[in-house]
Amino acid sequence: MSAFTIEKMADGIALLIFDSKEEKVNTFNLTVMTELGEKLDQLRTDSSIKAMLILSGKEDAFIAGADVREIEKITDPAEGYRVAREGQKVFQKIADLPFPVVSVINGACMGGGTEMSLACDYRLATDHPKTSIALPEVTLGIIPGWGGTQRLPRLIGIQRALDIILTGKRLDAVRAYKSGLVDKVIPWQWQKEKALEFITEILKDSGEAVKARRKASGALPFLLEKNPAGRAVLFSQAKKMLLEKTKGQYPAPLAALDVVRKTIGKSLEAGLETEAKVMGDLIITPVCKNLVQIFFRSEAVKKENGTTNTALKGQKISKAAVLGAGVMGGGIAQLFASKQIDCRVKDINNEAVAKAYQQAAYVLQGDVKRRKITPVEFRQTLHRITGTTDYSGFKSAGIVVEAIVENLKVKMDVIAELEKQVGQQTIIASNTSSLSINEMAKALQHKDRFIGLHFFNPVHRMPLVEIIRGSGTSDETVATVFNLSKALGKTPIVVNDGPGFLVNRLLVPYMVEAISLLESGVDLHTIDRTLVKFGMPMGPLELFDEVGIDVAHKVAKILHDFMGSRMAESPILERMITAGRLGKKSGKGFYRYEGHKKLADPETASFIKPSEKISISETDLVHRLIFPMVNEAARCLDENIARSAADVDLGMIFGTGFAPFRGGLLTYAESEGLKNVQKKLQEFEHNYGVRFTPSSAFLKFAEKGSFYEKSSKEKK
Ligand code: NAI
Repeated sequence: MSAFTIEKMADGIALLIFDSKEEKVNTFNLTVMTELGEKLDQLRTDSSIKAMLILSGKEDAFIAGADVREIEKITDPAEGYRVAREGQKVFQKIADLPFPVVSVINGACMGGGTEMSLACDYRLATDHPKTSIALPEVTLGIIPGWGGTQRLPRLIGIQRALDIILTGKRLDAVRAYKSGLVDKVIPWQWQKEKALEFITEILKDSGEAVKARRKASGALPFLLEKNPAGRAVLFSQAKKMLLEKTKGQYPAPLAALDVVRKTIGKSLEAGLETEAKVMGDLIITPVCKNLVQIFFRSEAVKKENGTTNTALKGQKISKAAVLGAGVMGGGIAQLFASKQIDCRVKDINNEAVAKAYQQAAYVLQGDVKRRKITPVEFRQTLHRITGTTDYSGFKSAGIVVEAIVENLKVKMDVIAELEKQVGQQTIIASNTSSLSINEMAKALQHKDRFIGLHFFNPVHRMPLVEIIRGSGTSDETVATVFNLSKALGKTPIVVNDGPGFLVNRLLVPYMVEAISLLESGVDLHTIDRTLVKFGMPMGPLELFDEVGIDVAHKVAKILHDFMGSRMAESPILERMITAGRLGKKSGKGFYRYEGHKKLADPETASFIKPSEKISISETDLVHRLIFPMVNEAARCLDENIARSAADVDLGMIFGTGFAPFRGGLLTYAESEGLKNVQKKLQEFEHNYGVRFTPSSAFLKFAEKGSFYEKSSKEKK
């Protein structure tokens, strides 16, 4: 079926409308690109055309970019190079058209969509809230390979272009206009009319007014960029920043920087050739393939509802309530309010309620500073949060999230009382990080409307929520909470009830094992540094400080009761808590803190059992901490705590920041070879004890060689 239609207006203006009828969004795949090429050949020879607009036939989506399934398939650099060259050629046909071409961007315009627009003479963006423009290729481990690294710097200058290419950031219409990427912002309701007005002006003055504006807005090369010395400074600064940010583990942004640097001053054709070659090299790397898999898995989450009853929509939540206005309650209230959901917050007294406002205001002020919201939106959002010390307003809430102290008895008493105050449909969700959802449910009459909804701290930053399904929780409740979590901008995974659920059950033993390494004489900084180098966002000991040593100790105790000899002991934690070293919040933990600065603290040594320093290879250090997580994850799959290997990988990436370029915990284990993991666990078992014994669940997976059913759709 044809994806492009050409409409001709009376005055010689043609409309090229992109609408892949069978797809929700427009993407560029091989068939679409071939058809586009043919249509452009046809247009080029049509002497009746004076100008052309390129529009999307979708209501609020422009072009989502290249079809990622095609990126996934390529395993040969020559094929990657060829695909890049073919795409470049098609877009060059747009640039070569004998009349002016305007891209009318309404809705998301990603990757190839942006590169196609860059090949046009002019770009317009609508003010539709969904309009955003980006080159997100580096987030998939590749570079813009259809001319993006060449045309963008030529249009808006090197520095601004790098800021877009190296980060993959999305620009809304106004920002795209300010950066020079688009020439005008137009109202989306009248996009066609306004675009026609725009092109009529262009035809009148040959685009002189627009070109003058581009020049005046400084879109053309700045002083620094004009001379080689200035450019050298710019590139070396960008490289330094990238190395700091990616720790050298993500080749794509560095490669993109290199392509831009090397091709400055060269012809467009030479630049495109270099771009395509680098694209070919990157597209086959494991980093690219891992990032693509994460992309697919995140997309799959967008399409599901967390149950096997896939048709279930669940209720739409427009009002919510939060019980407990502490760190988490305040964060959750802010999240609801930011997504236009009115939120009542109850605590035991007004002072406590005020803390939720403070917490919400603090996060929102950050958004104002970063210009994510305006001061007016700041006030509007804060107004959606209202405080109370009784249950007024709870009847009409679609969901109440309980976020009071982590104590089973207290929580059970409170939710039993809460149930009498809420509506017939209201879902009660607990944000507990470690208590059993099935135990808590015993306090309730309506277990079907009770569920665990575990946000991570800080709520506004952490992308994961664990949805804990109790044995009595209904599908309807799961679907409602799953869809709500997505509406809140989070990635949900559904897990079954069990100590620590999924993420903490894997993470806490890893953290405690780091302490056991410390006690055996491995240097604290070596441990943290090695794990950061491996790809964790911070080392395990720094993580203790961030979480709070008292909080982590509490969860560790619960897990220890459950796991017994599978988990190391951690006497250091108690000693540190007694001494008031609670982590960052108390200014001291494994490190010392001065404001936001983290410093080494020689005093920490006195809490560690004095023993001589020992050294361990980096690989062994990493394996000793990571492989027990793999072993435990196998158990979680076997016990049905996690539904799938994909959920474990997503959970660890979005809940703990586990190295995305490694594809997640289980994908990483598979890349090491499960038999090798088994051998290593057995060696550790021999040297350090039974906590490393490979579980029978793990042995089953090792036998198969994979956690993923190779034939299942999960791998796609
Ligand atoms: P917090 O101590 O900061 O806040 C608890 C709030 O609940 C306090 O304001 C307290 O006054 C209030 N409260 C106590 N009893 C109440 C009652 N009967 N009615 C209304 N309010 C009451 O605690 P935080 O850290 O916010 O934790 C809350 C829950 O979230 C706990 O279950 C915790 O395990 C969980 N959680 C905490 C995380 C963290 O990193 N802090 C991460 C994920 C979950």
